[in-house]
Parts: sequence; C-alpha cells; structure tokens
Amino acid sequence: MQASVKLDTNGKDVISEGQFENFNFKYQIVSLTSADIQTMLCFQTLILGSLKPGEEGYFLEKSESFFQEHFNTGSKAIAVVSNSNVLGQALIVHPNMQYPKTGMTDMVLPEPVDSLSIIQGVGAHPNTRGMKIGDKLIKAWLDVAANDGRHNALAETDQKNHYSWELFVKNGVNIVSAGVDPSDGTQLYNHHKVLKI
Ligand SMILES: CC(C)(COP(=O)(O)OP(=O)(O)OC[C@H]1O[C@@H](n2cnc3c(N)ncnc32)[C@H](O)[C@@H]1OP(=O)(O)O)[C@@H](O)C(=O)NCCC(=O)NCCS
Repeated sequence: MQASVKLDTNGKDVISEGQFENFNFKYQIVSLTSADIQTMLCFQTLILGSLKPGEEGYFLEKSESFFQEHFNTGSKAIAVVSNSNVLGQALIVHPNMQYPKTGMTDMVLPEPVDSLSIIQGVGAHPNTRGMKIGDKLIKAWLDVAANDGRHNALAETDQKNHYSWELFVKNGVNIVSAGVDPSDGTQLYNHHKVLKI
C-alpha cells in the first residue's frame, strides 16, 4: 500500500466532479496553483517510486524550480482528488510568444505557439491504476485547453508505455509521428488533436 498525498479542495477552482463508476466514492477535478507545488512534488515521488526498471522514460522528474517557472509563465496544473486524497495530477503547458517553451522534444509543431496546449507529467496514484484517473485527467485537459482557446492539443509518450499512449488515442489525441528524446534516447510518439473552440 502506497502513501497518500492530501489536498484540501476548499477554495479550489473545481473543473468538474463526479462519482467513480463501480466505486461508491466521489471525486473532484481541481485546478492547482503555485501554492500546491509541495503537494505536487510529494505526488511525483509516489509516481516515480512506482516505475519499474526500464520504465524511467515514462515519467520524467521535475524540480521545484521547474514547477515554479511553469506557474509563473501562465501554465496550469490539474488534480483528481477524492476525500482529500490526490489520485492523479498533470501539468498543462500553455506557451505564448514571451514564454514559447512547449516541453515537446522532437515534433514539428503546429503554429502559432499560443494555439498549443501540451499535457505533461500525467500520473495516477499507484493504488488506483486502471480506475480511469488517467482518462479523467486527459478529458479535463482537453476541456481546459478548449476553454482557453487553444486548438492544438499535443502530448508525447514513451512508445513502450502502451497504457499511456492508448489512453491518448482513445481520447482522439492521435499518434501523428515518432521521435526521440535527445536527453535519454527514449523512443517517443507525438500526439495531436485539433480542438473545436
Ligand atoms: C499511464 C497512467 C497515467 C494511466 O492511468 P490510469 O488511471 O491507470 O489509466 P486508466 O484507468 O484511465 O486506464 C487506461 C486503460 O489502461 C488500462 N490500465 C491502465 N493501467 C493499468 C494497470 N496497471 N493494470 C491494468 N490495466 C491498466 C485500463 O484498464 C484502461 O483500459 P480500458 O480503457 O480498456 O478500460 C498510469 O498508469 C500512470 O500513472 N503510470 C505511471 C506514470 C506514467 O506512465 N505516465 C504517463 C505519462 S504520459
């Protein structure tokens, strides 16, 4: 049994809420802010600890300063929370002309940069795998992106991480090309969905 990471959702911006199919408990999907960085770091530790040898390319560790810069440059993050327990989190990068960094490592990008929404660092709590937390995060991301007028939703996945890339494809974020992460040689799929806004 893995540790739990707590988050008080009082006062948080709630993106959506519902009840797990087949489970008698409720969840909320909330927006995170820079005030939640320590919580996000704790949750990241759980995800990293769940990776098996050879899965290092599935989820790349991000530093506290990375998270700080992420929020300072106008990008976003979301979490799935149930009974004050974080069950999943993801970063949403919304680049602009001033801060054009996308996090995509080997893809020819659609233009302009402020039409893009990129999801990164998708993780579901190790005890909840297969409970559609990843699916909820991707669906919430696509809503956040469309609401912010971003019509190109992009992601990259490790080709070996079939749970991950299948999840994107099931949500219409299709594989459009392959690439290689120059930092570690990971073979990637690039995903793209055009959003109606
Ligand atoms: C990839 C990840 C986010 C998927 O999250 P999840 O909440 O388990 O995914 P979902 O429940 O939405 O499942 C997607 C599908 O894969 C299946 N699945 C996912 N993980 C599974 C597991 N460990 N065992 C069995 N089936 C699993 C689900 O049954 C589901 O299939 P279905 O749509 O046919 O029912 C999660 O496994 C994770 O955090 N992995 C470690 C970090 C990582 O790889 N991140 C990806 C970054 S792009």
